[in-house]
Amino acid sequence: MQKKAIDAPINGDFTNKNILSIGQFSKKDIDILFNEAAATEKYVKKYDGTDLLKRKRLVNIFFEPSTRTSSSFHFAMEAHGGSVKTIENVAFSSVAKGETLQDTVRALEQYAHVTVIRHSEMGAVSVAAEVAQNPIINGGDGVGEHPTQALLDLFTIKQRLGHLDGITVTMVGDLKNGRTVHSLAQLLSHYGATLNYVSPKELTMPKSYTDPFKHKGIAQLEHQTLSGVLPKTDVLYVTRVQGERFLDPQEYERLKLTYTITPKVLKDAKKDMIIMHPLPRVGEIDTAVDSDPRAAYFEQMRYGMYVRMSLLALVLGRSIQK
Ligand code: NCD
Repeated sequence: MQKKAIDAPINGDFTNKNILSIGQFSKKDIDILFNEAAATEKYVKKYDGTDLLKRKRLVNIFFEPSTRTSSSFHFAMEAHGGSVKTIENVAFSSVAKGETLQDTVRALEQYAHVTVIRHSEMGAVSVAAEVAQNPIINGGDGVGEHPTQALLDLFTIKQRLGHLDGITVTMVGDLKNGRTVHSLAQLLSHYGATLNYVSPKELTMPKSYTDPFKHKGIAQLEHQTLSGVLPKTDVLYVTRVQGERFLDPQEYERLKLTYTITPKVLKDAKKDMIIMHPLPRVGEIDTAVDSDPRAAYFEQMRYGMYVRMSLLALVLGRSIQK
C-alpha cells in the first residue's frame, strides 16, 4: 500500500494515514471520527467489545514513560479484538545498543499493521513516519503535539456539554511545555471558541501554535490568574507543570503549584462547567474536587478508549457502522 505525504490532510479518508498533528483534521474529519466513537461506545456498552480488528496487530513504542496513553491504546486495540505489543522500556531495547529510531520503528512494524509512538523530542514521530510503511500515530512528541489526547478531550466536551460551538475554554498551567493544550487549542479553533490561556509568564502558550488560526477571529486571551475568568468558563482544562522539561529544578519547584484547583476556587465557577485534566495530576487539582459532579477527568479516560478505538479502526480502513 502506498502512503501519501507524511502529514497529509485526512480529507474524509483516514485509511492508511499517519495521525501526527491536529493540523490534518477538518471539521468534517472530526465529525466522521466522533460519529464512529459514538457508535463504538454504544456497541461496546452492549457487547463489551467487537471483532472489527481481529487478527490486526498494534505495536506501541514508548520512548518516554506513559501509563495512561499506552494502556488506552492497548485496551482500545483489544476491545476491537486486535492484539498489541507494547515496548515501554526502550532503555533495555536495541536502542540501548545504538539502534536508530528509524530502524527500531521499521523493524517492529514488520510484525504489525499500525504503530503508536511516543517520544521525548518534538518532531521525532514525524521522523519515524518518513521511513515507516504502516500508519504511524503520534502518542505525544516532546513539547510538540498530542493529537489523540486533544481528540478525546474534544469528544468528552461534546458528550458532557452536548455541543461544541461558541464555548469558552480556559486552559491553565504549563501551556508552554504541555503538548495536550498545543493540540487542543488548534482543534477548538474550528468551533468559534473563546480561549483563555492562564499561566505564569514563564509558561505561556507558544505563538507558533496559535498564530496559524489567528485569522479565524477566535478570541484568545492571556491571563496570569484565574480570578474573573472562571464565572465565564464552560470548560476548565487543567494541566501539570511539566517538570521533566525544566533545565532548572528550582524554577520547577517555584512554578509547579502556581494554580491549585480546590472546592474554594470553584465557588466562582458556573454550575454546569466541566473540569478536565489529561492526567497524571501532581497536586494541581485537589482530590476534594473529585466528588464534584463537574469533575470529568476520569470519564475523559473512558471516552479516550472509544476515540482511540475509532481512530485505529478508521486508519485500518474499518468502521463499526458498516
Ligand atoms: C499528558 C502527556 O503525556 O502529554 N498525559 C497523557 O497523555 N495522558 C499530560 C501530561 O503528562 O502532563
